[in-house]
Amino acid sequence: MGIQKLELLYEGKAKKVYKTNHSKQYIVTYKDDATAFNGEKKGTVLNKGVVNNQMSAILFQLLEEMGIENHFIQLLNDREMLVKSVEIIPLEVIIRNVSAGSMAKRLGLEEGIPLISSVLEFSYKNDELGDPLINDDHIEILGLATKKEVEIIKYTSLKINEILQQFFITKSLKLIDLKLEFGRYEDKVILADEISPDNCRLWDLKTNEKMDKDRFRRDLGNVEETYQEVLKRLNK
Ligand code: C5P
Repeated sequence: MGIQKLELLYEGKAKKVYKTNHSKQYIVTYKDDATAFNGEKKGTVLNKGVVNNQMSAILFQLLEEMGIENHFIQLLNDREMLVKSVEIIPLEVIIRNVSAGSMAKRLGLEEGIPLISSVLEFSYKNDELGDPLINDDHIEILGLATKKEVEIIKYTSLKINEILQQFFITKSLKLIDLKLEFGRYEDKVILADEISPDNCRLWDLKTNEKMDKDRFRRDLGNVEETYQEVLKRLNK
């Protein structure tokens, strides 16, 4: 029997997750809604959902080929993908290669300085608290993940960062930083969520032009065109 979309399980800022007639599979629908600064700034980016769905599919397939298990099963249409029914771990894993965004602000660094080694940060995925920065000890006392899970998440995130950094260079893009989320599926911890200009900072390799959601966050213009351009480069 084919896949049927059943009730809405969860609606986030940029995606909806639906149950299906298969207990171990969900459908993710990518929306055009854009938010920033923990929901304070709201807008729409035409066809962002289409770009993020397709870009995530390309990158999840690449990662699977490179041995990184993730929740992607198949694309269903322009805006929807079939995924494994993971239980999301409420952690945002941020990996940084170049200073930017909140870390640059917090540490008083100029943006654009290459880091001597990649920096990994954890945030507690909690909108009410504004996704605060946390460390391994906080994860332990809050019971968000086991020590073993944290170890797997850190190791896998750094590997993903290396694979994606190399891949993006071939597309004339520099991976400045990215945010990943993981989930539990069967007895494993696997990569979930999305990988798109919404949760990666991507700068043009030659000009350093910002090719990601910072165009929306910082009112830099050409937001829609930039999302399209990133997908176009990935498909080349
Ligand atoms: O804002 P900040 O510098 O901490 O963001 C680091 C990276 O994590 C950026 O690529 C940003 O797009 C992503 N991020 C995210 N969701 C959040 C916070 C940051 O995807 N809630």
